[in-house]
Amino acid sequence: MTQAPTPVPKEPIVIGEIIARMTRSEKLGQLCIVDTPPAPFPDEFVESIRTGRIGAIMNLVEPDQVNELQRIAMEESRLGIPLLVARDVIHGFKTIFPIPLAQAASWDPDLVRECTRVAAHEAASTGVNWTFAPMIDISRDPRWGRIAESFGEDVHLTGVFARATVKGLQGENPAAFDTIAACAKHFAGYGASESGRDYNTTNIPENELRNVYLPPFRDAIEANVLSLMSSFGDLDGIPATANDHLMNTILRKEWGFEGVVVSDWEAVPQLGVHGLTADDKESAEQALRAGIDIEMASMTYARYASELIDEGRISEVQLDALVANVLRMKQRLGLFDKAQTDPAQFRTPGHSKHLDLAKRAAVRSMVLLKNENGRLPLRRENNRSIAVLGPLADEPNDQLGTWVFDGDPSLSVTPLQALRARLGEACEIRHARGLNTTRHRAQDGFAEAVDAAKSSDVALVFLGEEAILSGEAHCRADIGLPGNQAEFLRAVHETGTPVVLVLMTGRPLTLGDVIDYADAILLAWHPGTMAGPAIVDLLFGNENPSGKLPVTFPRAVGQIPLYYAHKITGRPPTPETVVRMEDVEKGLPQHAVGNTSFHLDVDPSPLFPFGYGLSYAQFEFKDPVLDTVEISTGDSLSISVTVTNTSDRYAGEEVVQLYVRDMVGSLTRPVRELKGFQRVHLDPGASARVTFRLTTDELAFYTRRKTIETEPGRFRVWVGADSTAQMGAEFILLP
Ligand code: NOJ
Repeated sequence: MTQAPTPVPKEPIVIGEIIARMTRSEKLGQLCIVDTPPAPFPDEFVESIRTGRIGAIMNLVEPDQVNELQRIAMEESRLGIPLLVARDVIHGFKTIFPIPLAQAASWDPDLVRECTRVAAHEAASTGVNWTFAPMIDISRDPRWGRIAESFGEDVHLTGVFARATVKGLQGENPAAFDTIAACAKHFAGYGASESGRDYNTTNIPENELRNVYLPPFRDAIEANVLSLMSSFGDLDGIPATANDHLMNTILRKEWGFEGVVVSDWEAVPQLGVHGLTADDKESAEQALRAGIDIEMASMTYARYASELIDEGRISEVQLDALVANVLRMKQRLGLFDKAQTDPAQFRTPGHSKHLDLAKRAAVRSMVLLKNENGRLPLRRENNRSIAVLGPLADEPNDQLGTWVFDGDPSLSVTPLQALRARLGEACEIRHARGLNTTRHRAQDGFAEAVDAAKSSDVALVFLGEEAILSGEAHCRADIGLPGNQAEFLRAVHETGTPVVLVLMTGRPLTLGDVIDYADAILLAWHPGTMAGPAIVDLLFGNENPSGKLPVTFPRAVGQIPLYYAHKITGRPPTPETVVRMEDVEKGLPQHAVGNTSFHLDVDPSPLFPFGYGLSYAQFEFKDPVLDTVEISTGDSLSISVTVTNTSDRYAGEEVVQLYVRDMVGSLTRPVRELKGFQRVHLDPGASARVTFRLTTDELAFYTRRKTIETEPGRFRVWVGADSTAQMGAEFILLP
């Protein structure tokens, strides 16, 4: 690999001058992105590039072909404008990193920035210069398949990862040879779709939109994201792709965003399907008015924009503003100076640096959910025979998860392969799938697996969801283990052999029916290329788990949405007031204990709360101190706490989390909100003083006065190991 210097611009491109020379058809060419037809390319497609009627293409990853199309655009078209070349590079290109939800479980934005840096490097080698990532939709419904692509339920955590991924993809300089443009999506509120059905309606009041769904987009913009994608969703009656309030008032006027907004796939003509517009021409008009710069996949702009301008429904000035946004993005990407890629400048896929990073990210993103009697880590000397069971123990594709168009399964190391490689002859490994797939119902494979478990020291059972069960349009109404997996696990458990359950999944699962069948549960998510080595390192204690849940695990689907930063309500449940089904059956009158907010048939608490995750070490928190109990607007205060690793054998890392509650607000406020976190490494017996600084800006929210401001009054802070932390203190923000 030879490192190329970042190109020096030949002479500054003056966007206004280019636009002044453009014909209307050339302008409209900049406002569409088309799916690339298979090679050999049809003449009409190539001619459209040559005549400037296509300014952006997607889904082409053959460097020679990309280079040839760029050459035609730059040398044979009248104005020599380079192409945007887009691809969904969501959690890696050839080397696949853990799914974004898992990356968020690492609570390690620096590591995630490195992962996206490598993803950009691999993608850029093919000539791709734009990815549709990160997805920063707040996701509070695990039924929604796309929760896998999100950073989970929390505003602060999602914002931190929005910044990290944008910085990783775009690097310090988006014009560098191996960085690509990021696209924060889906603006806005897509994750709130009703009952977790993809593409469904969202009704988000302004208060919630501004306080929950929009802040991560602000973060991405502050990190200089070059583009945003509009959501497919209907936001309070006006689909995002036509939503003037969202796109013009908030994004352009209030936030001053100067980047590109691209529609989602065919979302412009779908305005008609929503019933917002009568035909494609009106759809084009509404999307143009909303300031959607680039229409993805469909061609309503190309067909109707000119007529709309001639009829005076869209002005030439409006059109030029959209074109300017697109040309500015191409300029920021340095494409006018160098649009060609040279694969020889890049590290090859499968480079050890990429695989090492993929393993490190997988290790850090896995969450230890249960570890009864210190079953883990396993000791080699006590585990001379191991049953490796389940449909996901040896699936190079499924461990990659959703959205891996270019992921290379031949680079994958599965858990079974890694166990064999690591344990060698000294350990007898008995492998049986038990079930063909995670959806399989037949029990014909159980006996072999049960026999393997019976004759082994431990059973490692790999269950969960295949990749195909999560991601776009892969939503589920029942989020338990699919198929007959629960029954299978019970059968293995009944052998009496200790059971370690390794869960591979793209979403939180309801595990109530299986949790007792496993002595230990390691949540691996869909961990990517290096799943196997990461899992083996964790199971055998070469690494200590340190991932924490970025999303709440409910006990039952009926609890959804269940998230830690909920409102308290006027009648919060308490242990004294919650009535259980058993009590109803006993005839206990509900009013005897008070009517509060709960379900009769499920414990109101989550199965595992946001922020939760165990370690082989134990951590103790003590001596919380605030440096002041009164602050004024513009000031900050510090909160410190001593964290001790009380284990005598295991070094480990704890993610120390800071939560705040604004006790009284002009609008009701969440019961607590994450405001900061720090990873601390502690050797056995070691302590560290961890200090957070909290500014009053971080206490601001979109208030009843419809501005973002702080409100004086009482605040409570908690510091601890998850969102249920009890150790805290109070301070006052003075008027
Ligand atoms: C539809 C998805 O919603 C979006 O996230 C993706 O980037 C586009 N398709 C392009 O593949």
